[in-house]
Amino acid sequence: MYTKDFDAEYREKGAYHHTLAGFSRLWYERNYRLLADGLHGKILDVACGDGRLADYIRDKDAVIDGFDASGHAVGLARQKKVYRDLWVGDITDPAAYTRDTYDFFVCSLSLQYLAEPALVRHFNDMKRLVAGGRVYRFTFPNTELVPKAETMRAILRPVFSRVDMVTVTGFIKDAGAMDAKKLAGNFNKAKNDPVEKSYHYMVTVSD
Ligand SMILES: C[S@@+](CC[C@H](N)C(=O)[O-])C[C@H]1O[C@@H](n2cnc3c(N)ncnc32)[C@H](O)[C@@H]1O
Repeated sequence: MYTKDFDAEYREKGAYHHTLAGFSRLWYERNYRLLADGLHGKILDVACGDGRLADYIRDKDAVIDGFDASGHAVGLARQKKVYRDLWVGDITDPAAYTRDTYDFFVCSLSLQYLAEPALVRHFNDMKRLVAGGRVYRFTFPNTELVPKAETMRAILRPVFSRVDMVTVTGFIKDAGAMDAKKLAGNFNKAKNDPVEKSYHYMVTVSD
């Protein structure tokens, strides 16, 4: 699993998901676009961070709630004045998901901070919440620090009836040394890498 002191990060850097550059900017943008595609109704932004996902939700009538473990992140998300309700909460707490009846649960790049047993418990909790046509989407890194894409598929298949996985981006070696044009060309190729070879991927599950 990954570990990071996000509360300190948000305190020191502010809303840094809004100001990324280079390869990070390209693939985070694609991350949020994929996650936000077609979202409508009531949406829960799980581990919302500074609230960047909300900028990509096109349905102007959507109601978006969010929570995060970091109080600083929640404060930054609140400043956007887009979320109906925001609170400090934990991904692994089932009570965080039932303040309303949500149509979509979305978790951007945060489940990698759970250890594998907590991750598996979380998916089993989400199984009940997606019953009746609701959808859970999340993005996840395909690295050695966490269950790789093949393992993730094997974890999810017995839990959910529908499991779709799509590449956010492949890995681009030396991306930091490329000029913008070369980087854009490489990125266009990398987003077509198979999920098993991706750097980050998105999962959509439902029942
Ligand atoms: C990489 S940031 C992503 C933030 C946001 N979802 C985005 O994509 O812009 C990871 C977020 O996960 C939150 N987080 C990590 N573990 C958490 C947990 N157990 N419960 C709630 N939030 C958690 C962190 O505070 C941080 O805001």
